[in-house]
Amino acid sequence: MKLTSARLFVFVFALSVVLLFPSPSSESKQATNVEARVNALLAKMTLEEKLGQLQQLDGEGEGNYRPEHVELLKKGVLGSTLNVRGAKKTNELQRVAVEQSRLKIPNLFGYDVIHGYRTIFPIPLAEASSWDPSVAERSASIAASEAYATGLRWTFAPMVDIARDPRWGRITEGAGEDTFLGSAFARARVLGFQGRDYSAPGKILACAKHYVAYGAAEGGRDYNTTDMSEQRLREVYLPPFHAAVDAGVGTLMSAFNDLNGVPASGNPFTLTKILRGEWKFDGFVVSDYNSVLELISHGLAGNNHDAAEAGLNAGVDMEMVSRLYNENGATLLKEGKVSQATIDEAVRRILRIKFRLGLFEHPYVDEAAENSSILTAANRAAAREASGKSMVLLKNDRGTLPLNKTISSLAVIGPLADDPRAPMGFWSADGKDTDTVTALAGIRAKVSPQTKVTYAKGCDITGDSTSGFDEAVNAARQADIALVFAGEAKEMVGEAASRSSLDLPGKQMDLLKAIHATGKPTILVLINGRPPTIGWAVDNVPAILEAWMGGTEAGNAIADVLFGDVNPGGKLPVTFPRTVGQVPLYYNHMNTGRPPVADVRWNSKYIDGPWTPQFPFGFGLSYTQFKISDLQLSAPTIRPDGRLNVSVNVQNTGQRAGDEVVQLYIRDVAASMTRPVKELKGFKRITLKPGETQRVEFTLGPDHLGFYNREMKYVVEPGEFKVFVGSSSEDVIEKSFVVR
Ligand code: BGC
Repeated sequence: MKLTSARLFVFVFALSVVLLFPSPSSESKQATNVEARVNALLAKMTLEEKLGQLQQLDGEGEGNYRPEHVELLKKGVLGSTLNVRGAKKTNELQRVAVEQSRLKIPNLFGYDVIHGYRTIFPIPLAEASSWDPSVAERSASIAASEAYATGLRWTFAPMVDIARDPRWGRITEGAGEDTFLGSAFARARVLGFQGRDYSAPGKILACAKHYVAYGAAEGGRDYNTTDMSEQRLREVYLPPFHAAVDAGVGTLMSAFNDLNGVPASGNPFTLTKILRGEWKFDGFVVSDYNSVLELISHGLAGNNHDAAEAGLNAGVDMEMVSRLYNENGATLLKEGKVSQATIDEAVRRILRIKFRLGLFEHPYVDEAAENSSILTAANRAAAREASGKSMVLLKNDRGTLPLNKTISSLAVIGPLADDPRAPMGFWSADGKDTDTVTALAGIRAKVSPQTKVTYAKGCDITGDSTSGFDEAVNAARQADIALVFAGEAKEMVGEAASRSSLDLPGKQMDLLKAIHATGKPTILVLINGRPPTIGWAVDNVPAILEAWMGGTEAGNAIADVLFGDVNPGGKLPVTFPRTVGQVPLYYNHMNTGRPPVADVRWNSKYIDGPWTPQFPFGFGLSYTQFKISDLQLSAPTIRPDGRLNVSVNVQNTGQRAGDEVVQLYIRDVAASMTRPVKELKGFKRITLKPGETQRVEFTLGPDHLGFYNREMKYVVEPGEFKVFVGSSSEDVIEKSFVVR
């Protein structure tokens, strides 16, 4: 086209307008669009329909829905279901909402997809042991794609509760005891489930839970009370939730526990002031299962009516299972105890997320694609890799491991050796035991055809019987090496599975002792979901591998590590105590006025045993060795808002390629509030060939150096800081710098 001068003028003018006043980005256009759609829909809704959006109801066994769900969706008075799943079933039910209800608002299908849907990945505590957030991001992404294929659009994960008490069974569901590591995994899991845009096919909405401080249950007893300073809440328990919010998480779940006298599901301080006020979260909060109703047992409310009032006014938008909002909403509104604005805001948040999910455009799932997306060879391969990366080598005297594939005979012993259930861990969604590769199967598939593998269970996981010991001892006697698989049953970890002992249950430790007494080299492999107390084993057997509950491919991954195809590089995300009496035992504690000193009485320790852990936070060995040296800081002093580069050399000084997790800790030596003896502020997992050296760098800034002072302000205070870099929280080299 030929441009006339007039046309050219118009073109140049238009171009400069576009350049000077760019049109709103497509993202902000979309956001305005969503808000407009939410408001238009809200304006059409009756009070009954509004309260209906605030209701989530449970499904039946096997993912079925009930006639009641159909009825409620037809009337437009149900917002969400949990546990209803399967492409055909979700489509059937969705058709009722979308085609038969007055306003055609789609149902939101939720489910606990915690560490896999059908292809089960290692438990979250195990994945945190990889110290590689990309492992968790990938597994969450695969879990999301499998869940999506079955019609699900929402998972109640990640669990980002900090847990310093291994008695608490739900320690298995999170990333362990540390806030910095936990925040990194929180971010990674949210990104894995949701991607950058959760309306994309294969992505699902995430839910950071359980907000908040649920992991601090007194005595490690599930659902128990928590009571802590605001400093501790803000510094230890809140940051992983904040990280999830910053990563764009669409929903949070309010917890079961009492927090400083106000239960978390009726707590306006955490749900409104912090979450919405300070963090600007604009998604919605779902209660935990019946947790609004449980405000009555807590004693925050005297009846259903008051419990609904407390939950709604605190900022719990959707009620899981209990129906107090629906039963009492109209009365509460009439009495002026809950405002129209509060109800509208709760509905608005839920609709906003439904629009962002693209649920109105794509309410259905492709039934034909369901099976081909699930338990694929690629997903299994990813689970195997994740499990291998999650294992932690706790002891390996004189290179006992790895074993040779051509070894002539092996005894595979113990109740966890061929148990297909335990590796699935708690919340194994639609994972099937029949898909699990047990350790025995993995080992048989790995060794040479000439290797004789004898299996003897020895004893059950629980119970007092030792009747299988003889067979196990004989098997060990006739083999070159004995591998003992011990740990916990699937039912011993997770929700409502707190333990008052951390010892190996039943007769497992006695079995290990009997096998060791044969004089055959004995290796302990742990399949468990929380730190165990295994002092005798640490003192006596030459090699111990923490394999955790490793998912569908656990057995193959265990064999990969035992036979050296994978060199273990995981590190503990949680301290292993020597006895349950030391609990809570965590690395980032305060120093006390009388820090423990050996052989001196009047300081902070026990008279009947060590104060030190069995294995410290961040600990883990490899089949090769690493040397960390030449710690350099970019400056001797920085300003409070300044940055400091920290670097070290890491060398693989051994004979095999392997992974090291380089860890950076700091200590603020003296401040207006006492500070932990060490705090993790950086980590990197790197792979090095034998002899190879790499310079690893970290940057410290105000985000790492500050804390909440007495006025609850986040500040970086002047003074001396120590920097520690090493291979665990205890094996470190150090230097100091000053903030001025
Ligand atoms: C658990 C939650 C879970 C919910 C739904 C509750 O008992 O505490 O973590 O998401 O059930 O299954």
